[in-house]
Amino acid sequence: MRKFPDGFTWGTATASYQVEGAIHEDGRVPSIWDTMCATPGKIKDGTSGAFACDQYHRYKQDIALMKELGVSSYRFSTAWPRIIPSTGKVNQSGVDHYSRLVDALLEAGIKPTLTLYHWDLPQYLEDAGGWPERDTAYRFAEYAEVMGKALGDRVDTWTTLNEPWCAAFLGYADGEHAPGRQDHPASLAAAHHLNLAHGLALQALGAVLESFRSSVTLNLHAVYPASKSGEDIAAAERIKRVGNEIWLGPMLEGAYDPQLLADTSHISDWAFIQDGDLAVIRQPISVLGLNYYSTTAVQAADHPQYSGWAGAWPGAEMVEFLPRPGALTAMGWDQTPSALTEMLTELSARYPGLELMVTENGSAWDDLVSNDGLVHDPDRVAFLKAHVEAVGQAIDKGAPVSGYFAWSLLDNFEWAWGLSKRFGIIRVDYDTQERIWKDSGRAYQRIATTGILD
Ligand code: FCB
Repeated sequence: MRKFPDGFTWGTATASYQVEGAIHEDGRVPSIWDTMCATPGKIKDGTSGAFACDQYHRYKQDIALMKELGVSSYRFSTAWPRIIPSTGKVNQSGVDHYSRLVDALLEAGIKPTLTLYHWDLPQYLEDAGGWPERDTAYRFAEYAEVMGKALGDRVDTWTTLNEPWCAAFLGYADGEHAPGRQDHPASLAAAHHLNLAHGLALQALGAVLESFRSSVTLNLHAVYPASKSGEDIAAAERIKRVGNEIWLGPMLEGAYDPQLLADTSHISDWAFIQDGDLAVIRQPISVLGLNYYSTTAVQAADHPQYSGWAGAWPGAEMVEFLPRPGALTAMGWDQTPSALTEMLTELSARYPGLELMVTENGSAWDDLVSNDGLVHDPDRVAFLKAHVEAVGQAIDKGAPVSGYFAWSLLDNFEWAWGLSKRFGIIRVDYDTQERIWKDSGRAYQRIATTGILD
């Protein structure tokens, strides 16, 4: 049995395009994910986020569920294409929607943890070049300012970006995510402009808010070399540079690791970095969000790797990704809770005093509805408990972890996988929009309401 500190934040997380639906309502304009979903073959099961969980209309019902779960915070994202329909314009109906959502959360005693960018770039900005264009970062800051002015009095924590690694590299290098481009030089420019967008957005929020809790959420990769050989260790280090250091360096230390620039020098000269950018990017943050699901194992390759997962790592052609051992989730991901403890303790050693939160963690399984009308999901319950325990162990080791957000409140649109992969602790029947409790929801309810893991 383990008791978490009083005041520890137990939350659930979602993202706009994954849950909202209502893509044509109240002045929303298309995002890159609408375009991706309309492109044959891009979404494995042919579904889209057009309806998803219909949370745009059902948010009150979902907040009632959160209240029943006993969570103290909801991590959601706002959809940029609902707010800024074209450069320089503000869509008040979109702003009003999130204002109502935030009010309803506060009324239920649930703190709003708002993410400004969870991958739904307005399509008109992609048409103008997307994240590889510097201008996109300035457009993001304008959007951040609008949101800050509208909701700054009520939002608990402002997160600039969710997993910029996926936005840059799944979006522009590997192409599995929107906008589906496969262009390694462009993906490095996208990474830099996402960093810049983070810094500019925090400056923009700072200009309109007297004080605010600021954060960014990174999916730092737990990378393990296949052996103790120098080559395999070097392969793992290379992956960590383009997976992790590319964000931590500029955002928290004000510099890119020179070795990262060297690793990718055959792809890009990084001439898109302008004087002063790194000072803009390195803004103080109140809390660092970590999303954690699974680990990565690599070895030095004997011939260049370009396709599949390898394509998502610019400059890492001579690295081979290996299958992970043990029982895999429905995503094919391994279950290694100890890596979560390790990452949290490493971060706390590297950035002493920096508050940490696990902003996403969870697992997909092939759930079934039982005759009793409920979902019995022992694998997800076990995953949840093991990872909450891993967070507890990091706290025991002194890591200042202040919260844990279960991914996800609901089954939802799982990007390139569509609606077929279910991460929810509450099931969604997509035909009826009924919410159905899973055992994992009940298990999380016990943890969130008591602070006790047993
Ligand atoms: C993360 C994303 C989130 C969800 C989970 C399963 O990478 O941030 O939206 O899709 O994976």
